Amino acid sequence: MVKSLHSTTTLHNGVEMPWLGLGVFKVEDGDEVVQSVKAAIKHGYISIDTAAVYKNEEGVGQGIKESGISRDALFVTSKVWNNDHGYESTLAAFETSLKKLELDYLDLYLIHWPVPSQGKFKETWKALEKLYKDGKVRAIGVSNFKEHHLDELLEDAEIAPMVNQVEFHPHFQQKGLQAYCKQRNIQLEAWSPLKRGQLLDDPTLTEIGDKYGKSPAQVIIRWNLQTGVITIPKSTKEHRIVANADVFDFKLSAEDMDKIEQMDTGVRAFSDPDEKK
Ligand SMILES: NC(=O)c1ccc[n+]([C@@H]2O[C@H](COP(=O)([O-])OP(=O)(O)OC[C@H]3O[C@@H](n4cnc5c(N)ncnc54)[C@H](OP(=O)(O)O)[C@@H]3O)[C@@H](O)[C@H]2O)c1
Repeated sequence: MVKSLHSTTTLHNGVEMPWLGLGVFKVEDGDEVVQSVKAAIKHGYISIDTAAVYKNEEGVGQGIKESGISRDALFVTSKVWNNDHGYESTLAAFETSLKKLELDYLDLYLIHWPVPSQGKFKETWKALEKLYKDGKVRAIGVSNFKEHHLDELLEDAEIAPMVNQVEFHPHFQQKGLQAYCKQRNIQLEAWSPLKRGQLLDDPTLTEIGDKYGKSPAQVIIRWNLQTGVITIPKSTKEHRIVANADVFDFKLSAEDMDKIEQMDTGVRAFSDPDEKK
């Protein structure tokens, strides 16, 4: 049972990862991201998800510092961008992220996209394994990997990814990938859990929410947790950051979980990992 923002799941290497965190995609570097991170930490969040390509790692680092929280109480994720694939360039990109964040280790480092057209994700993975073995990152994983990318990666990986962060919301539930990851002990993590705001006046979610006195966003976040999927909704508004974490005092019934499952269209709303360059 996920009880609070401090509740964690144990990754396959024993590291504890929070079930619910703050995403900061499209949050501007500087004041906007500093204030979002500080608001989240003030209200009990301990997990922040950024990426080199978001160009806000400096502000995330500043927000963490100004919040006064101790480093070891936090779980910080970043990701290597597509034009840094390759062994040496990934090692260098990692150091750049650390420097910008003003941290001396990360909790989780992900390959942002597989970029099959470059054919370098295995080499990139070797660099993540090296960073992990050197103790610079507590867990390593991938993002936007379909089953066939994972099959290829696992062929000669020394360490299996601990996490796969993918597009996941009521309209795109990735049942096949969910089962694949579960079987291999790879923790699934949802990006764009709110479909970037496009599901927030959905009638089914509204009707379900009304029963519990919760909003559609809260219903989705609760559904993520009950499905066993880590979730990182993004908001820059303090009241929404608070509301998105007000999901620990109710439980969706099996019937309502089923209604949300029926919303799956099987159609992704954002980029296809086989095509993303
Ligand atoms: N690995 C990847 O390739 C990848 C791709 C995309 C995203 N991500 C990660 O996943 C995180 C979440 O995804 P996302 O940012 O794309 O989308 P999202 O979390 O599904 O939705 C964010 C949008 O919903 C709004 N919102 C948030 N809470 C709300 C609420 N309670 N009521 C009404 N509106 C609300 C936000 O606006 P306001 O800010 O104005 O509140 C924003 O426009 C990202 O920030 C990023 O960390 C990863």
